[in-house]
Amino acid sequence: ATVFVLNGPNLNLLGLREPEIYGSDTLDDIAGMLEDRARELGLQIDLRQSNHEGHLVDWLHEAQAEGAKAVLLNAGAYTHTSIALHDAIKAVKTPVIEVHLSNPHKREEFRHVSYVGRAARGTVAGFGALSYLVALEAAARI
Ligand code: DQA
Repeated sequence: ATVFVLNGPNLNLLGLREPEIYGSDTLDDIAGMLEDRARELGLQIDLRQSNHEGHLVDWLHEAQAEGAKAVLLNAGAYTHTSIALHDAIKAVKTPVIEVHLSNPHKREEFRHVSYVGRAARGTVAGFGALSYLVALEAAARI
């Protein structure tokens, strides 16, 4: 079974971007970490990143069409703005787990609303790259 790991805007710059908030691991580092654990769990990882909202919507549909076991979704700033992503999560039966490196609730007011979280099965936030690994553990068990 495959777990989709979908990453939104600016996450291509991970490792360089505000490392005091997001850590020094790159998205490739996170992909490697997830693949190691997925192998042990008998799962496959399909990790993607886009700066475009509609790509994330298309990939949520694709996850369902391909029978993915779950989606880990770090929608970046679209988390706090995108009703389209909220609706796409609702539209698919595939369980979607919201992931954040930082804890948005400890940050600016505008990050306190999550349209993704209102539709997702659950949320893991605040543990840096480890948030993805915890979310994968959850995905393997649901
Ligand atoms: C983020 C949190 C968002 O508020 C922010 O816009 C990001 C990254 C995180 O992983 O902590 O781009 O999703």
